Amino acid sequence: MFRVTARTCSAAARCASVSTLSEPSLDDSVEDDQPGTTVRHRRDPAVPDTEARDRESSVIDPTEYRRVLGHYATGVAVVTAFAAEPVGMAVNSFTSVSLDPPLVSFCAAMTSATWPRIRAAGRFAVNILDEHQQDACRRFASKDEDRFASTPWHRSTGGSPILDDALAWLDCQIAFEQSAGDHVIVGGLVVGLDAREGDPLLFYQGRYGALRSSTNPLG
Ligand SMILES: Cc1cc2nc3c(=O)[nH]c(=O)nc-3n(C[C@H](O)[C@H](O)[C@H](O)COP(=O)(O)O)c2cc1C
Repeated sequence: MFRVTARTCSAAARCASVSTLSEPSLDDSVEDDQPGTTVRHRRDPAVPDTEARDRESSVIDPTEYRRVLGHYATGVAVVTAFAAEPVGMAVNSFTSVSLDPPLVSFCAAMTSATWPRIRAAGRFAVNILDEHQQDACRRFASKDEDRFASTPWHRSTGGSPILDDALAWLDCQIAFEQSAGDHVIVGGLVVGLDAREGDPLLFYQGRYGALRSSTNPLG
């Protein structure tokens, strides 16, 4: 069912899309890397202590963690924003969160140079990649300064860059952010969206792939 190319991606299975999201612990004060995002929580006695939970999770070997999570197939999206110029990064941590209100999320690495720029823009677009957009994916996962150079794009009503060849796109306003280990979970309120016919780019065990055939799970 799954066709993969031989080429591998060095960023394989790298995102903590299922990261151990620690509940706030007693008197927790989480200081983000991002300025101005200190989050203070009240301790809920029903919630296990965060440090104890972190100690527990530290027995997981990182290599094994990546290997196992690599078995979860995802699509790939490019999250873009307009911050004086277009900025964007490839993510496979994109997911839908809520229907009412319409919320989506992605996880950004704390080390990402692009995330602070998206954050400053206050809004972003999610561009779901088509199976033919492997090269675009590689560019948006690289540290290339000019990631948009050979990718035609236009601005959404909200101003965020939409890749012309994207399979689907969602125009979002940043609705929330939650630090989670070495990533931040970014939530977006969807204010516009569209999709066209086509097949998605897939990502599995560090390789890109495409659907060979599909069945309708509802039909
Ligand atoms: C398939 C794939 C999925 C990725 N998913 C994520 C992700 O969910 N979150 C993230 O922060 N980085 C992810 N990356 C890595 C970023 O695309 C990359 O680190 C980033 O664009 C580098 O530039 P930056 O420092 O400007 O963000 C992914 C890379 C690839 C190839």
